[in-house]
Amino acid sequence: MSFKRTLITTALPYANGPVHIGHLAGVYVPADIYARYLRMQGREVLMIGGSDEHGVPITIKARNEGVTPQDIVDRYHKIIKDSFEEFGISFDVYGRTTSETHRRVASDFFRRLYEKGEFVEKTSMQLYDEEAGQFLADRYVTGKCPHCGAEGAYGDQCEACGTSLNATDLIDPKSAITGSVPVMRETKHYYLPLDKWQPELEKWILEGHREWKTNVYGQCKSWLDMGLQPRAVSRDLDWGIPVPVEGAEGKVLYVWFDAPIGYISNTIDLVGDDYTKWWKDPETRMLHFIGKDNIVFHCIVFPSMLMADGSYNLPDNVPANEFLNLEGNKISTSRNWAVWLHEYLRDFPGKQDVLRYVLTANAPETKDNDFTWADFQQRNNSELVAILGNFVNRAVVLTHKYFDGVVPQAAPGEAEDAVFAEIASLREKITESLDGFHFREALKLAMDMARAGNRYLQETEPWKVAKTDMARTGAILNAALRICADLAVAFGPFLPFMSEKLASMLGLGQLSWDMIGQPGTVAEGSRIGQPVLLFEKIEDDAIQAQVNRLLDTRKENDLKGWQPEPVKADCAYEDFEKVDIRVGRVLECVKVKKSKKLLQFLIDDGMEKRTILSGIAQSYEDPSVLVGKEVCFIANFAPRKMMGIESQGMILSAVNPDGTLTVISPSADVRPGATVG
Ligand code: 2FM
Ligand code: ZN
Repeated sequence: MSFKRTLITTALPYANGPVHIGHLAGVYVPADIYARYLRMQGREVLMIGGSDEHGVPITIKARNEGVTPQDIVDRYHKIIKDSFEEFGISFDVYGRTTSETHRRVASDFFRRLYEKGEFVEKTSMQLYDEEAGQFLADRYVTGKCPHCGAEGAYGDQCEACGTSLNATDLIDPKSAITGSVPVMRETKHYYLPLDKWQPELEKWILEGHREWKTNVYGQCKSWLDMGLQPRAVSRDLDWGIPVPVEGAEGKVLYVWFDAPIGYISNTIDLVGDDYTKWWKDPETRMLHFIGKDNIVFHCIVFPSMLMADGSYNLPDNVPANEFLNLEGNKISTSRNWAVWLHEYLRDFPGKQDVLRYVLTANAPETKDNDFTWADFQQRNNSELVAILGNFVNRAVVLTHKYFDGVVPQAAPGEAEDAVFAEIASLREKITESLDGFHFREALKLAMDMARAGNRYLQETEPWKVAKTDMARTGAILNAALRICADLAVAFGPFLPFMSEKLASMLGLGQLSWDMIGQPGTVAEGSRIGQPVLLFEKIEDDAIQAQVNRLLDTRKENDLKGWQPEPVKADCAYEDFEKVDIRVGRVLECVKVKKSKKLLQFLIDDGMEKRTILSGIAQSYEDPSVLVGKEVCFIANFAPRKMMGIESQGMILSAVNPDGTLTVISPSADVRPGATVG
């Protein structure tokens, strides 16, 4: 590695909502693992974060709530910053794009490019809301996607097919402010001619960075293959950084122009003029940690801005991740389909490392992945508790039991040589994986180290040896404690809270990466601390509470989005008359054995008793509640056999928005056998 220092940037989350597990798995956990790893290697590193506080979604939220955009960003910046801190994301600085420094740095950046003649000014027809008296940038306009036909596509992107759009491309556009149909009106904007940088970008990425992740390289290649177009970097809005040149009154910088400059301003807030060392010295390596929806901005747009300026480094790598889904569905802020970090911290206090572990073990590094609460519980209980926690606990408890907590003397034999050879080899592999940004692989290898520790204790059986040979018992426990130290270091980037607890239990002091596999890390004759439980079992009820929360959300969403079915084609009265609908009284109602769906009714139809099967079992946990009720049923359907039982008719039910069914009953007592019509 020929660089002197590493600048890690992490996508600045929009301050229009709290952060969720998707943000964490995609960006912040991997970036934090990498930053901690480099620090443990003694490397010079800065990790830059901050809130992205401009952009239309923030103004829309403010308008909906009847507050100012500043109120919104103040609220969410605090929630986001506090939750990151509690979660152990080790930013060196966490700034915001409404700061004074950022306004100055972003304005200067724009002005510099403007003065160099790097922008093209163009007037064009844009959508204008006459009722609201404003142009409709990006998310202020919705309509039908011209690519996939989905309704509700935004002026900048269709979320259904992921295509990035221009507001004027939308079919049947509508203003998100007033709902009115916008008109076209002329306006002037500043464009960054990406096409000018196309040859340089091609050379830099397609030839120079074949090592980038395939998802990143592939997206860049497809953008470049399509041919880059000039991109507007100003907007007609009143929330943002004013375009700092004459003749641009009422215009602000496009949020995607100012946000990445936030990385620079936040660096300046942290180190002042020294920022040039981090941004302009070719011996500094810059890495952008982002999610896949940000690839084009970090690999094409921001680099074009940096090239246009001419004095900055370009990123060395952009290890973008794919998306994390939640219980099989896309995470969505507006649909509240997410596990919010601040709520997780409230519901699982002290369990930061569990979530860090699960999100890394399941990281969407090469493809979209799914987070489920069942997997979360399983990984905690059978990996963190049963493998890692169990090994450390055995080593520490046995040292207290046999040696009063004093570290016994080392005396390596065959078993020790074997386990330390395995650890040395794992260390190499973990290092290689981390260097290549393969965090889930690295974590799996770290867990293999704990597995090796368990196997070592299982094979050497110090609890048996202690009956005859205390010196050998001491040698085994010395080795076991040394493995504990290796684990404290190896897991340091991933599980920093556990690592710190374990290091302090063993009296290790400052951890460094090269300690893994070193003898003597746990000093002979020193006294270790009392055993502290590193992980505890997560019980079913804690998991069920989370699952129930999601089920409630799903119900709410179903209700919100529910609309009655369109009315069917006309039906002649003579046709309706053919159907014989009657009232019957339920005499018996039970679940059909081996069927999930079917209930078996015995109905008094006023003449005799008849059996009717109905596929509503999932809507009636306890079918006996229907006994004694009057129901409506179709009496003249031909009998039909299901699960070996003959059904003589059909019970009428209403379909609820969540898909459950409710049996239809008359509003007052009616004699069984009465016709309905
Ligand atoms: O997609 C997002 O959430 C953006 N707020 C990311 C911005 S990254 C950077 F450029 F600041
Ligand atoms: Zn689409």
